[in-house]
Amino acid sequence: MSKKLFIETLGCAMNSRDSEHMIAELREKEGYETTDDLSVADLILINTCSVRERPVHKLFSELGGFNKKKKQGAKIGVCGCTASHLGEEIIKRAPYVNFVLGARNVSKICEVLHKDKAVEIDINYDESEFAFKDFRSSPFKAYINISIGCDKSCTFCIVPKTRGDEISIPDELILGEAKKVVAKGVKEIFLLGQNVNNYGRRFSGEHEKVNFTELLRRLSQIEGLERIRFTSPHPLHMDDEFIEEFAKNPKICKSMHMPLQSGSTKVLKEMKRGYSKEWFMNRVEKLRAECPDVSISTDIIVAFPGESDEDFEDTLDVVRRVKFDQLFSFKYSPRPETQAQHFTNVVDDEVASNRLSYLQGLNNEIIDEIHKKLVGNVYRVYFESLTKDNHVSGRSDNNVVIKVKGSEELLGEFKNVKITEIGRTILTGEIVA
Ligand code: 5AD
Ligand code: SF4
Repeated sequence: MSKKLFIETLGCAMNSRDSEHMIAELREKEGYETTDDLSVADLILINTCSVRERPVHKLFSELGGFNKKKKQGAKIGVCGCTASHLGEEIIKRAPYVNFVLGARNVSKICEVLHKDKAVEIDINYDESEFAFKDFRSSPFKAYINISIGCDKSCTFCIVPKTRGDEISIPDELILGEAKKVVAKGVKEIFLLGQNVNNYGRRFSGEHEKVNFTELLRRLSQIEGLERIRFTSPHPLHMDDEFIEEFAKNPKICKSMHMPLQSGSTKVLKEMKRGYSKEWFMNRVEKLRAECPDVSISTDIIVAFPGESDEDFEDTLDVVRRVKFDQLFSFKYSPRPETQAQHFTNVVDDEVASNRLSYLQGLNNEIIDEIHKKLVGNVYRVYFESLTKDNHVSGRSDNNVVIKVKGSEELLGEFKNVKITEIGRTILTGEIVA
């Protein structure tokens, strides 16, 4: 009988892909199969995120719960970004944890498995050319890493300290992976990197100069591949050539994530984002001029140290002018090993909460307004999952999530869908010819 693996994945798409990598390695090399039942697992992994503060005690109380429920002899491993930055401390505080594996070291999962109390958290480790075994959680779309780490030093962000310096994965490996998944029937790929449009800045070995725009061109030549998505691009690196290729290449989905973080040039400077409010607006205008149907999503941090009422007004101004199709907003959370944790001009927590709820209220109004206009529109939807209410859901090219009545036969199919009903996160429609 196969050994059983229970894996919990927190955080971003990069972590989901890392979990897929670990599942693949453990399956091929150690004979593990995944299970949703913790009590039957022989190995329990938690793939952690540390971008915002999740009180460390919550991780330890969860680990304590795992330890109580696990079957005799089962191993527990802590992986991902919190593993990278807490390291050995995890085993000191929870001695029943068998190993700690950093976000930059997931290729070593089968090694640490056999070394009790192993702590592998080297953020300089180069796994950019490691040939992972293959496992995909969806037969319809595939995540593909294009780089590891991040070369920026945004003052609020812990990622460069947990995932290390940026190294691009050679394009021939990326193209090879894309061709392989397309041959298996995948029609949509999702390229992943902390800063995708910085692609090609540095490879670990000698490599021809290929930037992100060129990588997109090469990928789009793969026959049978219909859609290319990616996350996250950095507003600073959105040059004209990139925006023009994005607009005119029919395989690139017309959905752009543009993490604003703040609309105030002063705060952006304190965050070391490298662009101003004007630059951001200029890029949005260029993008909308080249590609009128584009949907734009963003990330915003409110109450970064020193953010005044005027600075917050600047953020609201950008939100009102751009009208983002999706907005992820967070209250600033001081993180260890970042520059901003030492900033003393902290914003009062009540003010921070008020700003966050004001921003979210404004965004909800904008989304409702945008969605109202979509009724009657027809989109080409790629169906990828079943919902609990007997519907099948998928996305339009420009990332509108739409469900229709139906079942499995629709999965992996493209259909034209007319919007009949709106909701805040998912719209309902019917298939039309
Ligand atoms: N506090 C709050 N939000 C943060 N993010 C990153 N670091 C922090 C932090 N310290 C947000 C940013 C980023 C998203 C993934 O998480 O908006 O784009
Ligand atoms: Fe963090 Fe900035 Fe890198 Fe994004 S670009 S991962 S916010 S340091």
